[in-house]
Amino acid sequence: MDTEILQPDDDGIARAAGILNAGGTVAFPTETVYGLGGDARNSAAVRKIYEAKRRPKHNPLIIHFADADGAMRYVEFDPLASDLASEFWPGPLTLVLPILKDSGLSPAASAKYPTLGVRVPSDSVAKRLIETFAGPVAAPSANPSGAVSPTEASHVLADLAGRIDAVIDGGPCMHGIESTIVSTLGGRAKVLRHGAIPEELVIARNRPPQKSAPAGSTPVTPGQLASHYAPRSQLRLNVAKPNPSELWLAFGPDCDGAEYNLSDSGSLVEAAANLFALLRSIDEDAIRLGNRSVAVSPIPANGLGAAINDRLSRAAHSE
Ligand code: TXA
Ligand code: MG
Repeated sequence: MDTEILQPDDDGIARAAGILNAGGTVAFPTETVYGLGGDARNSAAVRKIYEAKRRPKHNPLIIHFADADGAMRYVEFDPLASDLASEFWPGPLTLVLPILKDSGLSPAASAKYPTLGVRVPSDSVAKRLIETFAGPVAAPSANPSGAVSPTEASHVLADLAGRIDAVIDGGPCMHGIESTIVSTLGGRAKVLRHGAIPEELVIARNRPPQKSAPAGSTPVTPGQLASHYAPRSQLRLNVAKPNPSELWLAFGPDCDGAEYNLSDSGSLVEAAANLFALLRSIDEDAIRLGNRSVAVSPIPANGLGAAINDRLSRAAHSE
């Protein structure tokens, strides 16, 4: 199939919504990374998403809505989840909540889990697309399963051209790192995947103190396999001084000689926004220059650093 490249204007959005209505797949920008969208009520569309990404069937998809009211038709909100939604939506927060009975969603979208990851993106193109389509949009990151997530339309095309119906080119994504996934099971907010909203801000909503652990088993994020975001070259993390044979992905000032720098000024916000694009570029260089390995500077662990370090350690894990 030919993958159409659509502009983020009225015509492009209308065309994209038409493709979703017809059960097709459209990659679109969000404020985090590009998502690969399909109608979450249509099992054939959901199957196309899994096939295009070669994603294991047991790994559920995040469902995107234009607003919280849309999400409320599909999942049950507890008071803490409502608090978090009103603070962080629209924005890069995914809430994992119980699916309502007879939701009408394709069982494949939630991989038959009793919970659903739901989110309301703030990106204007994503919002207009979901509003025009007027239904729930299943959208994992628009990359082959296990590969580096896309933050530009060109990344999507490099990986998935010919495997998806269309991509809307809305330029680079603002945050550049995926949404923070949060469970509110037992009345406690727990981060299941670090992301664009720092954990500190999420757990600040928990009411202290809690004597015993909440009832119920601890939920997991099925997609958080050790190896993920994997470039082809070997990554070495927390390196203060690279070997002469290594390419250097630096962070902060005083990194003279670095091939790439996540943020010259040492900003974690900027580093997150640059991370996936620079991983792709430095990986290409490393392979072209004869399988050089890549040394990555230490990144602070606080704030967005938790999400950046999480992605780097998965990228460095080769199995
Ligand atoms: O920022 C984002 O979240 C992007 C944009 C496109 O919205 N989407 C994204 O989707 O990162 P994906 O499929 O690449 O990652 C979703 C993660 C997977 O690790 C999956 O296992 C987890 O969310 N997940 C989905 N539904 C879940 C559920 N019901 N319970 C626990 N984890 C869930
Ligand atoms: Mg992903």
